[in-house]
Amino acid sequence: FNTIDDLDLDDKVVLTRVDLNVPVENGKVSDTTRIDRIVPTIKDIQQKGGIPVLLAHFDRPKGKRVDSMSLKQVVPALEAALGQSVVFVEEAIGGTAKRAVAALQPGDVALLENTRFYEGEEKNDATFAASLGALGQVYVNDAFSAAHRAHASTEGLARLMQAGAGRLMEEELKALDAALGKPERPVVAVVGGAKVSTKLELLSNLIEKVDHLVIGGGMANTFLVAKDIEVGKSLAERDMADTAREILEKAESTGCTIHLPVDIVVAREFKEGAENEVLPVDQCPADAMILDAGPETVAAIRDLFTRCKTLIWNGPLGAFEIAPFDRATNAAAQAAAEATKAGTLVSVAGGGDTVAALNRAGVADDFTFISTAGGAFLEWMEGKELPGVAALKAKRA
Ligand code: 3PG
Repeated sequence: FNTIDDLDLDDKVVLTRVDLNVPVENGKVSDTTRIDRIVPTIKDIQQKGGIPVLLAHFDRPKGKRVDSMSLKQVVPALEAALGQSVVFVEEAIGGTAKRAVAALQPGDVALLENTRFYEGEEKNDATFAASLGALGQVYVNDAFSAAHRAHASTEGLARLMQAGAGRLMEEELKALDAALGKPERPVVAVVGGAKVSTKLELLSNLIEKVDHLVIGGGMANTFLVAKDIEVGKSLAERDMADTAREILEKAESTGCTIHLPVDIVVAREFKEGAENEVLPVDQCPADAMILDAGPETVAAIRDLFTRCKTLIWNGPLGAFEIAPFDRATNAAAQAAAEATKAGTLVSVAGGGDTVAALNRAGVADDFTFISTAGGAFLEWMEGKELPGVAALKAKRA
């Protein structure tokens, strides 16, 4: 595919797809990794005389304007990262957007409102893509982490105009290929997070590719239910139990060992510092919920990290955002960082929550590579073609 080096950007409005789907707590961006990592692209576009007009989505407003999902809330963090002011445009298409873009001067940066406020975005509607395209002359895609979505701003636009990859897109593809293209075995994948339903296909595909799969976070509870283990008031998708059972069976036939928690940290309240206790996995009281994995589970994970050569990590092991339920995630992160520093493990982590957790644990810099992507990272890992990347490649051919 083309990169910024191949494109003539001088005096052009460069529609730059970035991923600003960042964690926000109390109206403030709580982890700026995704923002920090798009800075080189924006600066390089400016360096080549282009005016970057940023396109991005935030959360899942389903084609409607939802005020709490406005991209306006990320502007202060973006301005801080860039060291300059950002023109925020309250529409992504139409007259308001056209006028705002026409008023931009070289050196400016603009951010358009959430592309997912428009139905055409996720439908990859040609008319919507054309309306976005009408705002600029060149398209740069720097949103590797949204490249698994065939949406108008991630895929459709590339087909309409001159297009190329941004620096972060380039970096992600190069680094993932170097670390995971032909991974050294055994490979362990850690997949956590709240829901099985959003990661089913991924889990099912991963067990064909990795030697060990550690399942953590809320989704582990669904697997416990599948094994007839009571989880009390824990977050669990009981209607997914059959599917979880199928995954467990499939893993047996592919030779992938699935690791579920052997001990748990339970509490009666979901709040910081809540009273809690460590119990064997099959002893969750009916009125309690599982909020983290216990120390024995962590010890087993630590052991895996010393035996395996490659680690792929997506999703926290517990409710890491509220102490003390961040212990398992932190301890596992430390263990991965140590093995990486010792040179025995290639560690690659991805996903907003995961990166936030590794940052909090203070070990992100010790990992071999931190991808800004969550879902896209896992789909890449499964060997799937990412539509956003494919569209850029087709452009070059
Ligand atoms: C992400 O946060 O992984 C990307 O921004 C994609 O978001 P989505 O899962 O809502 O499409």
